[in-house]
Amino acid sequence: MAPTLGPLEAAPSLDLLGPHGADIARLFTEPFLVLHRASAIYTARTCLLLLFDLGWEDRLRAGATLDNLCEGLPAQCRKPLAWMLPFLAGENLLVREGEAYVLRGEPDLDLTELRQLAEEGAPGHAGNFDLLDGVRSHIQPFFTEGKPGEGLLFDLTLYPLWLAYFRNENLGYYPNNLLTLLALREGLPEGARVLELGAGAGSFAQLLARQGSEEGWASRIAEYRFTDVALTFLRRAQRELKAAAPGLPLQFQSLDLNRPLGDQGIEAQSLDAIIGINVLHVAQDLERTLLDLRSKLKPGGRLVIGECMKPDLGTPLYLEFFFGFIKSFTDVTLDPRWRPRHGFLTPEAWEAALCHAGFGDLQFVPPPRPLMDQHPGFTVGAVSARA
Ligand SMILES: C[S@@+](CC[C@H](N)C(=O)[O-])C[C@H]1O[C@@H](n2cnc3c(N)ncnc32)[C@H](O)[C@@H]1O
Repeated sequence: MAPTLGPLEAAPSLDLLGPHGADIARLFTEPFLVLHRASAIYTARTCLLLLFDLGWEDRLRAGATLDNLCEGLPAQCRKPLAWMLPFLAGENLLVREGEAYVLRGEPDLDLTELRQLAEEGAPGHAGNFDLLDGVRSHIQPFFTEGKPGEGLLFDLTLYPLWLAYFRNENLGYYPNNLLTLLALREGLPEGARVLELGAGAGSFAQLLARQGSEEGWASRIAEYRFTDVALTFLRRAQRELKAAAPGLPLQFQSLDLNRPLGDQGIEAQSLDAIIGINVLHVAQDLERTLLDLRSKLKPGGRLVIGECMKPDLGTPLYLEFFFGFIKSFTDVTLDPRWRPRHGFLTPEAWEAALCHAGFGDLQFVPPPRPLMDQHPGFTVGAVSARA
């Protein structure tokens, strides 16, 4: 029998997608659905192969608990392993028996064939799979020598793969940007001062420049402050973004959202919009950061965030594979009300955190329920919240 990816998740019906439904529905093309499915399978296989690389196949065949596997390992290994074991069980590569996880039989771990299927159904996305291979081949010293994940995953060899990942041409990443753009464009005032946090490879700024000028609203932006904590991203943006995001009135600045923004030159009530795409989940103290961000918005100004979101906190998302090795993702202040555990949050947790910090008039794009109940694979969303 010819190999397949199994059944693809159905695209949600328009009535589940809210006021921006027509724009959002266009995301659910066959290549998008193929890529999503192939990425989940590829991540699961890569994850199990990594455990084999570490020499644990026999232990998994005998059945191992999280505690068994962590014995003798650096303490930092516990969080990613606590994610991997249930993830692998959810993807049917391990079987859970009480507290133990067991490897049974010979699961299909072929990556070459999977790449071929992805290339046929979603051409041009090999880079996403290269990145997963790169994580597997670089991360072993995290387990064996206790080396920090940041240094291993953001080295010079993997940097081009990250750049290739954070692009609008990548159907696996583009939804983050599109949904945030839809949440931002409503009600952006004339002469708007906008700041983007963790702007990274600049893909959102590029989309905004292109789509905002096509639709005639980009000219409302008087200042676009492009910021990131990582100087490599910032310098690259300074070199390349003027050409890649034409017409956007760019300013560049290094900015760490874990340090008071006032100390970094951002004045109180000075901004009309603050944007953060897949960055706020690394706020070490989410409450403190959200309060700080709100104080820098003009009255009525908006925080607009794009985030991977989980249908429920207990469900591992395949995208979390990368991030479990990164301290800024795992070592955060927890709060039972809005951040009971590290990692991506549910829409309800974001709502609780934003409201607690004094934001109001929250608009989710798309409205997350009942969408995520019926389509648990839909794990991205944007929210706009008024200061
Ligand atoms: C998932 S990437 C988002 C990339 C970006 N939106 C794009 O399209 O390229 C997260 C970004 O947040 C930045 N970041 C991480 N920690 C940060 C912090 N404490 N303050 C500000 N930015 C941070 C990273 O350097 C990275 O560029």
